[in-house]
Amino acid sequence: MKFFIDTANIEEIRETEAMGIICGVTTNPSLIAKEGRNFSEVIAEIASIVDGPISGEVKATTVDSLKMIEEGMEIAKIHPNMVVKIPMTSEGLKACKGLTSKGIKTNVTLVFSANQALLAARAGATYVSPFVGRLDDISEPGVELIRSIAEIFEIHNIETEIIAASIRHTMHVTDCALAGADIATVPYKVLMQMVKHPLTDQGIVKFQEDYRAVFGE
Ligand code: E4P
Repeated sequence: MKFFIDTANIEEIRETEAMGIICGVTTNPSLIAKEGRNFSEVIAEIASIVDGPISGEVKATTVDSLKMIEEGMEIAKIHPNMVVKIPMTSEGLKACKGLTSKGIKTNVTLVFSANQALLAARAGATYVSPFVGRLDDISEPGVELIRSIAEIFEIHNIETEIIAASIRHTMHVTDCALAGADIATVPYKVLMQMVKHPLTDQGIVKFQEDYRAVFGE
């Protein structure tokens, strides 16, 4: 399983890119709004840092497929690595088909069932984004959705990649990897939590103490 970072924050992207752990970025209208910057400007800056798929979502207010296609084409022009993120609606599926036919990569988002993922794949989606944490929030096991989609895609030789989204904690990451997600898009805080282990910290202190005891500073 590969990692994307789920943020529009430039410092978080720079830091994790420097660590070599991410190979793509996902954004959404809420994440863009959080940064309070112009969409195209922030997306172009992200694309100059990470050499991999960058998902930019059509505006939250765009609901018509033709408008989504128009907006998606503008997003695609920002950088060759752009992926147009489209909501999982009937208009979104039409937009997915339209953008795919123009050779533009798509990420169908807000996926909450295996059937939605299957439909998005058939409409030509490059990626589907099932939301693990938001399903957990309503007492439905999000990781089980990842497992079902992975199994269905495997049975039917579907090439659409599964991005496990709405990742809230480190166990989500391990569980999604075991469930067959191709990618997890993970917030900065969770990526940093994944780095840490108390025994690693204790081990570093012990090595330093033992070395200093014999050789000094
Ligand atoms: C990613 O594509 C989604 O936009 C994101 O993971 C949603 O996460 P949230 O449910 O924590 O907002």
